[in-house]
Amino acid sequence: MSTAKGIDYFTEAASVESVNARVGEDVNPRLSKVMASLVRHLHAFAKDVELTQEEWGVAIDFLTRTGQMCDGNRQEFILLSDVLGMSMLVDAINNRRPSGATENTVLGPFHVANAPVRNMGDNISLDGKGESCLFEGRIIDLDGKPVSGATLDVWCDNADGYYDVQQPDIQPKWNNRGVFITGEDGRYAFRGIRPVSYPIPDDGPVGQMLSALGRHPNRPAHMHFIVSADGYETVVTHTFVADDPWLTSDAVFGVKGSLMSDYVPGDAGDTQWKSSFDFVLNRADQS
Ligand code: BEZ
Ligand code: FE
Repeated sequence: MSTAKGIDYFTEAASVESVNARVGEDVNPRLSKVMASLVRHLHAFAKDVELTQEEWGVAIDFLTRTGQMCDGNRQEFILLSDVLGMSMLVDAINNRRPSGATENTVLGPFHVANAPVRNMGDNISLDGKGESCLFEGRIIDLDGKPVSGATLDVWCDNADGYYDVQQPDIQPKWNNRGVFITGEDGRYAFRGIRPVSYPIPDDGPVGQMLSALGRHPNRPAHMHFIVSADGYETVVTHTFVADDPWLTSDAVFGVKGSLMSDYVPGDAGDTQWKSSFDFVLNRADQS
C-alpha cells in the first residue's frame, strides 16, 4: 500500500514484494534469486496454514535447539535435512546420471575422511562382532570397461547398530571402515560384516519431531561407499541388504531400487555371507 509520499509499508497482501524490494542493486544475482524464492515460499507457507504466533515461537525454539545440539561430532541440521527429504532432493537435482550409471544416495553424518588404505581382501571389521561377509565386484564405466586406480571408500555400522565414531570408547578406531584402490581389472574385494539396520540419532529435536509425527527413526541395513576415479563423477552411495524390513520406510528416504544387493551364503570356510555389486561410473564430461 503506497502512502501519499509514495512509501510502501509492509502489508499482509504484499508481504513478499515488501521484503524482496529491499534487496540492493549490486547483489550477487544467484543470491538474489535464491532469497527471493525463499521469501516467496516461506510467506506462502505462513499464509497457507494461517500460522499462529505460538506455532512460529515453537518453530524458532525448535531451530534454536537444533543449532545448540550441533558440535564437532553431532550435526543435527544435517539430520533435519535428511528426515525432511531435502538431502535426497538436493542430491537428485545435482546428480542426474544416464541410465545404467550407479545412482547416488545420502552421505549421512558418519563418513570420516582419510580412513586407512587397505589391501584387497582385508577385513575392515576390527571388533570381532557380527556375521562375516565378503563384499566383491567391479568398478566399470558405462561401456563395461574396468576402471583402474578407482578409490572405494567404505564404512558401515557394527553388529550393535553403531558407527565407530558414535562409540569411541567402545569400538576400535576405524572399525568397519577402509579405503581400497582398484588395479587393472577394476575389481574390489574386502571382508566385513553383514550390516544391520539402526535408528538415526533420535535423542534431539529431530527425534522429537519424528515422534510427534508418528514416524520411526530407522534406516534399513546398508553399506556406504564413495567411489571416485580421475575423469569420472564421484558416486556417493550405499548398497542395501535386499530383504531388510525397513526398506520401504527409510527415515531419510535414501533407498533406490537399483542399489539392492542380495546377501548369499559365502563360500565354505571363508565368510558367512557374500554381497556382490558392480559400480558403474559416468565420465565427468558426460553431464
Ligand atoms: C547414515 O546412513 O549413516 C545416516 C544417514 C542419514 C542420517 C543418519 C545416518
Ligand atoms: Fe549409515
